[in-house]
Amino acid sequence: MADFQRVMDHAVAVARKAGEVVREALSDDRKVMTKSSAVDLVTQTDQKVEQLIIQSVKEKFPKHRFIGEESVAAGEACILTDDPTWIIDPIDGTTNFVHAFPFVAISIGFSINKQVEVGVIYSCLEDKMFTARRGKGAFCNGEPLQVSDQTDIHQAIICTEFGSNRDPEVVDKMFCSLRNILSLPVQGVRGAGTAAINMCLVASGCVEAYYEIGVHVWDFAAGSLMVTEAGGVLMDVDGGELDLMSRRIIAANSRTIAERLVKEIAPFRLPRDDAP
Ligand code: IPD
Repeated sequence: MADFQRVMDHAVAVARKAGEVVREALSDDRKVMTKSSAVDLVTQTDQKVEQLIIQSVKEKFPKHRFIGEESVAAGEACILTDDPTWIIDPIDGTTNFVHAFPFVAISIGFSINKQVEVGVIYSCLEDKMFTARRGKGAFCNGEPLQVSDQTDIHQAIICTEFGSNRDPEVVDKMFCSLRNILSLPVQGVRGAGTAAINMCLVASGCVEAYYEIGVHVWDFAAGSLMVTEAGGVLMDVDGGELDLMSRRIIAANSRTIAERLVKEIAPFRLPRDDAP
């Protein structure tokens, strides 16, 4: 049996350290490189922070496994096993970081038996530490989080993102979903530029839901626990069960809001995170 409190304490400590590195890097020149597309950005700080987190976890938990955004980009397999696994996004909101748009998070999920047991999201420019443990609630800087109780979609704010895929067919589908949702109408559509912070906004009760097609497991592993521990629900965009590797998610305050969104989202599939 893993000591989840030890895992949580270490994740919080290393996320804070990573946040310092990110804040300091904001005052330097940021050398920007690209990954899967011209708008899929990465910086040396993403790589440095991921190494910092992995090294520090390895020292404390030498048998644990890792899935890290930049390690996968460098060619490591993205396979979720039953073993204790740290699922890391060193900078969620890299485009925000590059532009100094003030929402940037370090996202750390910890899973066993393919179930997320601990989630830590440090919104490092706001200095907000979000934490969740399965069965023990979700918190921001120690204060308990609760999703909103609004189940009327017409009174809702919905978060979404456009990601970094600019294939015309994908862009058309994203606009189709957006058009449907705006026309319901909902009260607003927002996006912080980071999946993790969008999910913290759901958990905090500021917005009713977040959906996206194109995210990765490292973007939403920690956030998924944050939302359920704050009383929310997770769903695939077609209404089925959430699949951590499918790159599709609805995270909502309630089944009512999630199922209403399923009716409006134009679903499509992208290669899975665990595709060979
Ligand atoms: C991205 C952000 C963005 C979302 C993308 C993610 P990254 O993560 O969460 O909001 O739209 O799908 O990949 O690349 O900044 O870690």
